[in-house]
Amino acid sequence: MLPVLVTGGAGYIGSHTCKALARAGFTPIAVDNLVHGHGWAVKWGPLEQGDIGDRAFMDRVFARYRPVAVLHFAAFIAVGESVADPQKYYGNNVAGTLTLLSAMRAAACERIVFSSTAAVYGEPMQVPIAEAHPLAPVNPYGRSKLMIEQMLRDFDHAYGTGSICLRYFNAAGADPDGELGEEHDPETHLIPLAVGAALGKRPPLKIFGDDYDTPDGTALRDYIHVTDLAGAHVLAVKRLLDGECSEAYNLGTGTGNSVREIVDAVHRVSGKEVPYDFAPRREGDAARLVASAEGAKAALGWQPKYTDIETIVKTAWRWHAAR
Ligand code: UFG
Repeated sequence: MLPVLVTGGAGYIGSHTCKALARAGFTPIAVDNLVHGHGWAVKWGPLEQGDIGDRAFMDRVFARYRPVAVLHFAAFIAVGESVADPQKYYGNNVAGTLTLLSAMRAAACERIVFSSTAAVYGEPMQVPIAEAHPLAPVNPYGRSKLMIEQMLRDFDHAYGTGSICLRYFNAAGADPDGELGEEHDPETHLIPLAVGAALGKRPPLKIFGDDYDTPDGTALRDYIHVTDLAGAHVLAVKRLLDGECSEAYNLGTGTGNSVREIVDAVHRVSGKEVPYDFAPRREGDAARLVASAEGAKAALGWQPKYTDIETIVKTAWRWHAAR
């Protein structure tokens, strides 16, 4: 079982990826400071609790496990918070990644899969968005992720550190076996908030904007199942181990669903109404974000399985209803 290091391995996408890695025959070593991650989500390998920005800690982890590759999820992810506190985002996401890369170099670990985001594109000029779309992030979160992508290209050019950047659209759903799910605190994402409202565990949903230029006036997003994201990471690690590197791929289904469609899907899946109110548009939200994922399909042989929004919402519902 080849050891791979998974930063943010106790987080939402990181933990699902650890499960997929274990199933594919790797040993995932989760590195997580547990600021937002959960110890209970680490089930498929050891947990090393610490910070990617702590060089001495990272050196010890590399020396102990000798990983053949790194999957790098650890990051702060809240767009609004990144606007209010950019120092936190550039410090943790950008400076933390530089420390991680330096520790990798010192340990002669030369392959990394990076958790990037659709936010690197900013306000889309057209949808679906392909990788060749201009990169113009509109907030510090997106800029922090783009800076890391640029750093990775420079590291490859200078030191031969092979990297694959995976730009996720809207990660959604939960492990179909019910072993893992989405637990952010605070929660800002649509599906858990809508499900929580239907369960009576959260206040009525606020739908941010009903006056977008979309069929029903609410914003369109490309919701991609977290298990499909996890599968793409396994394929990316294998591609790096085969010697390919320095690429960036979108991960999405290619289908846009509106906020209203999500509310309807929660209703259909659960039989419960989602109480909601309309609220003004949220600052920085684009009307439509839909991926072209043809690159990932061609290069990685990736094919998302949970492409139907009802199936995605059903896995999220099962997880939250059981909590
Ligand atoms: N929304 C609501 N009410 C809510 C929460 C969200 O109406 O209470 C709407 C948003 O306005 C948006 C859609 O639901 O139209 C999805 O919102 P999310 O907050 O779930 O996700 P985002 O599209 O804002 O963000 C996602 C990732 C970010 C990433 C971004 C890329 O979560 O990490 O895509 O642009 F930066």
